[in-house]
Amino acid sequence: MSGVWAVLVAAGRGERLGGERPKAFVELAGRSLLAEALERLDGCPWVDGIVVAAPPGWEEPAILVAEELGAGKVSACVTGGTRSRAESVRICVAEVPDGADTIMVHDAARPLVTDAVVERLLAALREGWDGAVPGLPIPDTIKRVRDRAVVETLDRSGLVAVQTPQAFRAVVLREALAAIGDDATDDAAIVERHGGRVCVVEGDPGLLKVTTAVDLEAVERLLAG
Ligand code: C5P
Repeated sequence: MSGVWAVLVAAGRGERLGGERPKAFVELAGRSLLAEALERLDGCPWVDGIVVAAPPGWEEPAILVAEELGAGKVSACVTGGTRSRAESVRICVAEVPDGADTIMVHDAARPLVTDAVVERLLAALREGWDGAVPGLPIPDTIKRVRDRAVVETLDRSGLVAVQTPQAFRAVVLREALAAIGDDATDDAAIVERHGGRVCVVEGDPGLLKVTTAVDLEAVERLLAG
């Protein structure tokens, strides 16, 4: 077994979105965020296998989503972590076959993943990087604030906003996950802390992260074209 495996984490509760169901099962334009992301990853020509993390109790519905899509690359649908996203990533990575050379971690909360972004990430790994992340320039000025008081205004010229999917040499991601705790919100940060070399490739403004109802409407508008 070799190739590129995608880990799709969908186990968050999504409290900021409100509603009855976990965020990945919230519908946009008649289908769930999970279905949209899964269909795109399954259809991506460079992805060989997929592991999905579902919230506890939502494993069966997640399997049903994969079956309804005919997403034949899904090899496992596991119960994600209840403590953190990184825990869900760790559980999924343990399900990826040992022979996989690349692991790409993606959030169901960013449904509009494209082949073009995946291609840029994989090209960076072929150049010899341990990891690659999509990044976009930051239009807003960023300030560090403590107790409402501004303590620093950052020079935004050197800053990027980072998205998922994030791709890694499998061996490097596995080593970093084994060595480092579950507190990081960003997979690349785990690899960086473990000494991995991570590069930024061009992100995609359409790869919006759904956090609030306003984000959901924005993604729906993008889908409607
Ligand atoms: O909460 P947030 O929106 O930052 O979560 C990002 C992604 O991580 C979502 O796709 C969510 O389903 C996933 N997640 C997870 N397990 C957790 C927390 C979040 O799979 N415990």
